[in-house]
Amino acid sequence: MAENLVVQLASIVEPLKPPTLFPKTQPLEVELGCGDASFLVEYAERNRGRNFVGVERLLGRIAKLNRKGRVRGLANLRGVRIESAYFLQYLLPPHAAAALHIYFPDPWPKKKHRKHRLINESFPALARQALAAGGMVYLRTDDADYFQQMNEVFGTAEFFEKVATPAELLEIKTDFEREFNAQGIPTLSAAYRNGE
Ligand SMILES: C[S@@+](CC[C@H](N)C(=O)[O-])C[C@H]1O[C@@H](n2cnc3c(N)ncnc32)[C@H](O)[C@@H]1O
Repeated sequence: MAENLVVQLASIVEPLKPPTLFPKTQPLEVELGCGDASFLVEYAERNRGRNFVGVERLLGRIAKLNRKGRVRGLANLRGVRIESAYFLQYLLPPHAAAALHIYFPDPWPKKKHRKHRLINESFPALARQALAAGGMVYLRTDDADYFQQMNEVFGTAEFFEKVATPAELLEIKTDFEREFNAQGIPTLSAAYRNGE
């Protein structure tokens, strides 16, 4: 197994070559803003026939992905420390991902800060570039206003269709989700499929 599951980027302008990151070439799924990576580590352990990349901008959090993934011996998990939209636009080769997971992205609740939200009207084009045909976008948040925006941008985007989220995916909770749910705040979730 790799010494370090965090990808050491030789360049931030050259796209990654996903098959070189993992021992096995398998379908690739990406979590954007993976935080402490509890979801991704559990999901990668349950799905060893797929490869996973967690994208996270904070050093301490990507270090947790590394530690947890190594403890569980996950050869199918890697972390990249970088900004999520930049990763999709410049580092992930086109149509390389079978799924994007975006769970509890920073909600930027103040109206004047909403321009900082990751999921905005530009995001479906980035997601479509990243996804293979038939690829999935899985979304979760606690924030009703952000959830409405997510559904508006994907609901009106050409090529994406709303589908049900698999129960076996929903049963794996993220760190933030467990905290919100413990306070009685429910999870809002949606899934969109990238059409042919
Ligand atoms: C609210 S936390 C949710 C973490 C995790 N998805 C969960 O549900 O437990 C949001 C995470 O996304 C990261 N983040 C926020 N904006 C980001 C961006 N533009 N690029 C990469 N990471 C980002 C933050 O550092 C943080 O770890």
